[in-house]
Amino acid sequence: MARLNLLDPQVRANPYPYYAELRRAAPVSVIDPGEIWAISRYDDVVSVLKNPAVFSSQGLRAATEQPWAGYNPLTDSLVLLDPPRHTAIRSLVNHAFTLRVLPRVEPLARKVARAFAERASRGLEVDICDDLATTLPAQVIGNLLGLDDACDKFRTWSETIVAISPGTPEALRPSIVASIAELGQYLEEVFEDRRRARRDDLASDLLDAEIDGRRLDQAELMSFMFVLFVAGFETTTHLLVNSLRILAERPELLARLREAPSVIPHFVEEALRFDPSVHVTLRVATRDTEIAGVPLPAGAVVAALLASANRDETRYEHADRFDVDRDRKPSVAFGHGIHFCLGAPLARAETRIAFEELVPRVGAIHVTQEPTWNCGLTVRGVTSCRMRFEPL
Ligand code: HEM
Repeated sequence: MARLNLLDPQVRANPYPYYAELRRAAPVSVIDPGEIWAISRYDDVVSVLKNPAVFSSQGLRAATEQPWAGYNPLTDSLVLLDPPRHTAIRSLVNHAFTLRVLPRVEPLARKVARAFAERASRGLEVDICDDLATTLPAQVIGNLLGLDDACDKFRTWSETIVAISPGTPEALRPSIVASIAELGQYLEEVFEDRRRARRDDLASDLLDAEIDGRRLDQAELMSFMFVLFVAGFETTTHLLVNSLRILAERPELLARLREAPSVIPHFVEEALRFDPSVHVTLRVATRDTEIAGVPLPAGAVVAALLASANRDETRYEHADRFDVDRDRKPSVAFGHGIHFCLGAPLARAETRIAFEELVPRVGAIHVTQEPTWNCGLTVRGVTSCRMRFEPL
């Protein structure tokens, strides 16, 4: 097999057969972009994620830090930290997040989802990426973080910022640099505003938060908001689109969910396993080591292929089959170990609510135009996908 490049358009459109080949023939092997070590089997992925002393999250710098991009606040954020710093920062944001998140999300998410579902129930054809799949997560994350007044910019910022990788085409680079600068300037203004008058949002909570008896400095505040925004918005968009595409291909499943709405949470969980938004996360080996008997030198950048682990046939029977009734074995869609996704309950709730509103109101869903794929190394999803919704 020629060396795999995850950004190759053919791979992008359907990477699963390529992952299967890696799992079968070369479970620990070098791929592109960036000559990274791909780990494709479930057990190996979990053992990498469980061992931050040997596999440091600083490996994500291989994606977030590029010489042409200037300073990217994501490189100093929670997701790139190792213990003990990670432990302190995570517990702080965990506290602020759990207090604030779930009680607020349900009514807002339901309102946005219901408005869409009512339009869809009368028959509707839209690019879903211009509609529900972006408006729902934008309103929710905008409200939680306190960024509601910039919701219309979220998509551009997020789509461009997650496209940063060692393989970013030159043509895309100026838009990434511009988005990092614009989001940075906007967040600075938000913090200035909240310093003058606190509001009921996470930006205000962060200003009052303390670690080891001291407040967060400006750089820490910025990297916090960057990671919450980037991790929390587009990943949910892709989960919504992927789940809708799955239903469009399986009308009998749509009928089943309509008859038994209690299956919707299992549907969301299986969609996360079957086609997750985050395909890859990166680590760097802190010393000479080995994975599944293959030696890796200190400094090797390791790509844990989460989406491949989720299709590992040694863990999931008929792994390529979408099955809402399968054994409830957790997947690694939200990662594993100390960096397990902070927003998992939020993403699950938003998606469940969207389908609770949509499923009883639409008769059929069709994809009417082949989707176009984004170009990020870690996050994979579509940037445009036309869908038609038929009335019941
Ligand atoms: C971490 C996936 C939604 C915030 C992660 C990781 C994954 C992931 C795989 C682990 C990365 C690693 O180990 O390197 C997803 C998926 C989502 C989603 C698939 C939606 C379908 C969200 C939301 C938020 C969020 C809605 C918050 C608003 C975070 C944060 C981290 C994280 C802050 C870093 C945690 C840490 O480093 O301790 N996410 N995520 N995510 N996610 Fe999510």
